[in-house]
Amino acid sequence: MNLSKEYAAGPIRRRLSALGLLAAAVMVTTSTATATPAATTATATSAPEAAVRASTLGAQAAQSGRYFGTAVAAGKLGDSTYSTLLDREFTMVTPENEMKWDTIERSRGSFNFVPADQITARAPARGQRVRGHTLVWHSQLPSWVSSLTDANTLRSVLNNHISTVMNHYKGKVYAWDVVNEAFADGGSGAHRPSVFQNLLGDGFIEQAFRTARAADPAAKLCYNDYSIENWSDAKTQGVYRMVRDFKARGVPVDCVGFQAHFGAGGPPASFQTTLANFAALGVDVQITELDIAQASTTAYANSVRACMNVARCTGITVWGIRDIDSWRTGQNPLLFDNSGNKKPAYQSVLTTLGGTAVASSGTKRAAALPSSFGWSSGGQLIAPKSDATHTIAGIKDPSVVHHNGKYHVFASVASSAGYGLVYLSFSDWSQAGSATHHYLDRTAIGAGYRAAPQVFYNTRQGLWYLVYQTGNASFSTNPDIGNPDGWSAPRNFYASMPDIIRQNIGNGYWVDMWVICDSVDCYLFSSDDNGHLYRSRTTLAQFPNGFTDTVIALQDSNRYALFEASNVYKVQGGNQYLLLVEAIGSDGRRYFRSWTAGSIAGSWTPLAATEANPFARATNVTFPSGSWTRDISHGEMLRAGNDQTLPIPSCRLQYLYQGKDPNAGGDYNSLPWRLGLLTQTDSTC
Ligand code: XIL
Repeated sequence: MNLSKEYAAGPIRRRLSALGLLAAAVMVTTSTATATPAATTATATSAPEAAVRASTLGAQAAQSGRYFGTAVAAGKLGDSTYSTLLDREFTMVTPENEMKWDTIERSRGSFNFVPADQITARAPARGQRVRGHTLVWHSQLPSWVSSLTDANTLRSVLNNHISTVMNHYKGKVYAWDVVNEAFADGGSGAHRPSVFQNLLGDGFIEQAFRTARAADPAAKLCYNDYSIENWSDAKTQGVYRMVRDFKARGVPVDCVGFQAHFGAGGPPASFQTTLANFAALGVDVQITELDIAQASTTAYANSVRACMNVARCTGITVWGIRDIDSWRTGQNPLLFDNSGNKKPAYQSVLTTLGGTAVASSGTKRAAALPSSFGWSSGGQLIAPKSDATHTIAGIKDPSVVHHNGKYHVFASVASSAGYGLVYLSFSDWSQAGSATHHYLDRTAIGAGYRAAPQVFYNTRQGLWYLVYQTGNASFSTNPDIGNPDGWSAPRNFYASMPDIIRQNIGNGYWVDMWVICDSVDCYLFSSDDNGHLYRSRTTLAQFPNGFTDTVIALQDSNRYALFEASNVYKVQGGNQYLLLVEAIGSDGRRYFRSWTAGSIAGSWTPLAATEANPFARATNVTFPSGSWTRDISHGEMLRAGNDQTLPIPSCRLQYLYQGKDPNAGGDYNSLPWRLGLLTQTDSTC
């Protein structure tokens, strides 16, 4: 029986760990016969954490992994009432006019970034991200563009505008409204006339998105429009058909923005349906320019609730701060009055962002996880692929994000020679097995002991992070997750092993580093194969530097009950964090236990944390296509977003894990680990 996991750094470490393996096998055999594993004595609870009300729009939205933004005018930043509200309440900013064509490229080839730079430059230090608005729009378009008559000239003008602007803001803009308002009002469902449409035809939108993706592959690319909130409207249907077609043909579109400039009655009754239907195409949806004539509390609550009830509705932006800042003069459509006081609609939005009911039918409670789980597993999806220089026994420890229409999977590859990292991408799980394996030892990450990767996108820095173990906790960064050669050389999070780990690790191994951030701080979790889960902290602004305050976040006197491979996620739609830790059961098989907490540094309450009521164990997994593993081991949840907050949905969970032939044995590093996918079967929503 091979029960202990270790990552061999070299021949000496391997020989030492072989002794550890032996000891581990003996200890588990003993505990099976005589002891009740501590895991079985913990009690599960079904009580979801009560949501703690935050006091600002941005902080409240962040509790469900969303942002709350506003349009910003550079000329008003010197008004201290304005900038105080801006920085206190909002976590996303959209330049109201400063990125429009008539400001940025007023004459051909001459770019003026000064006004927009005033907005983007101050945002990161205030914890704000930026939506870029907008690259291609028929309005606020200088006449030198609208009077062009030659298609080839316009095509190169368009490409140059997109590339130049996006290049300037690379890493500074989270999402771009690549094309704004291209569809006609009324019953046609067709594109509106414009110089772009008239000279380039229907294909101009696709061209704009393709050019945008090439210019900044890390930015989210949105289509943005108004009067597309009512599901049955011809304009809504026209945009929906376009996005569906783009997704089917691989045209890069990541999000759809709903401007939501509403009359006094607020959103149409079908708004949530519209958001959900677009999200189901595989795009994020966002409310991008919300304002409502007279700002009734009900109309605002209905708008916000529609977003809260759709997992992929990732944020809400209001189109201005105070009523005097609004473009809709005299309609008082915003959340603050002319003096900057909160209006009743503000309270209504804050309450609704907290998931609390505001009298109306169809209101949902804040989402929370169930207290027991059932899963169905597919067959082996991903097996190792040896090549001329890599002879691989097992593929393990997967990390996965979905970005630009593709799954991007990072994993450990194991063999008797030690551990390395591999990357593969594919658009559909049916193609996972045939994807090319890129060995990352050929990149700046380099050869040697590198294992247990975790990937996420750092929105503050506009960079992908790959966190992994090397004996220390290490990381590399990459502006483009799709480019395996783009990873930087390893850097360490710690100067050396923190004292508290050194004091508690015994004969374990320091493994499975995991980073998660909230809107203020980042945390680094790790395990010691000796019953301890550790947690260090730094600020989001300082990350990746400054990890300190290392503490034991959770411990168990039975080292096998709290072994390794921890994951921490933010559950969307409520105020709940989920912790998973891999354990070795009394049958010697790997399985997962789970806990929840109201904050990342909070105390963990058992959720499904016993052998009898596990989070995921062979006993609560069915295998319709054949029971190929009894171990449900190191893996990762399919997330609802790729950023450092690690959001997951509260229902229909999917978990990518490692399993192996139950009869396989021998050298731990040579075991035939394969990857498979669990899908939750007993989801209640
Ligand atoms: C508006 C601005 O708020 C005004 O200051 C400007 O004069 C006109 O444009 N749809 C959009 C936004 O996409 O860019 C518009 O903003 C409002 C409608």
